[in-house]
Amino acid sequence: MTTVTPLISSASPLARDIDGKAIAAQVLEEVREDVKKLAGQQIFPALAVLLVGEDPASHVYVRNKLLRAQEVGIRSLEYRLPDTASQVQVLELIAQLNMDVSVNGILVQLPLPAHIDEAAVIHAIDPIKDVDGFHRENVGGLVQGIEVLTPCTPSGCMRLLQETCGDLSGLHAVVIGRSNIVGKPMATLLLQANCSVSVVHSRSVDAPALCRLADIVVAAVGRPGLIDASWLKPGAVVIDVGINRIATESGHRLVGDVDYASARTVASAITPVPGGVGPMTIAYLLKNTLVASQLQRGVGRVLVG
Ligand code: GUN
Repeated sequence: MTTVTPLISSASPLARDIDGKAIAAQVLEEVREDVKKLAGQQIFPALAVLLVGEDPASHVYVRNKLLRAQEVGIRSLEYRLPDTASQVQVLELIAQLNMDVSVNGILVQLPLPAHIDEAAVIHAIDPIKDVDGFHRENVGGLVQGIEVLTPCTPSGCMRLLQETCGDLSGLHAVVIGRSNIVGKPMATLLLQANCSVSVVHSRSVDAPALCRLADIVVAAVGRPGLIDASWLKPGAVVIDVGINRIATESGHRLVGDVDYASARTVASAITPVPGGVGPMTIAYLLKNTLVASQLQRGVGRVLVG
């Protein structure tokens, strides 16, 4: 057991913002540079994005993903199917994309319409093209510490934490939420970075007390403003993954799972919403597309449909 120096010994009056936009721009610049280098080896990474149905938020997310891909020189292919598309149609399209050697990454935007089995769709994607890192083969690899395609939002959160805190070894991290997309992979990545990790969820007894033990808090529950100053240890670093749409008189606004105004009076650093975690997810999606194209070329694997 090593002794750990506290990350921040006393709380500053107001937490500083962790600038996700600026850090995502750095990541995208790294991706752009790597795309140029790969072009010299005749590798041209391409990402296929499949959107099923008319969910307005999903349309916005997909549009942003395609725009950013274009900006860094990654070829993107957009596929849209109507709400009424059958599961067989979705699976057939995925089989076609699996077999297409010019496609390196496949992303199916979630949520899918209720009549489509999300797990069946995710597991139909060839794991080496699974740029979301949701396939059970990639999830298993992540838990075992094998280099795999890792879920984008948790990867982005890790980069924000590394930029903010440096070495995370020995710090106590509390992850609030246990989803397959964020909470579980986030806890795994923090463990790999040598944190002590607790996962707090809806059945936890006295979640605020558990959270007050944390040097790092990652909130991913989808409950607007749930976590306020009373949940935080002075000087904690707070990563807010929540993107909740709140209706206002003039339309809507986005808020996180953390009550930002309250939390910043106790935390030392905090991600704002928007402009914190959101831009990192797209940056890491494109980084994963690059990694996938290298893995596919490097291992010379025959892709199966
Ligand atoms: N919907 C919300 N977040 C995500 C994500 O990270 N990946 C996909 N495919 N769909 C999402």
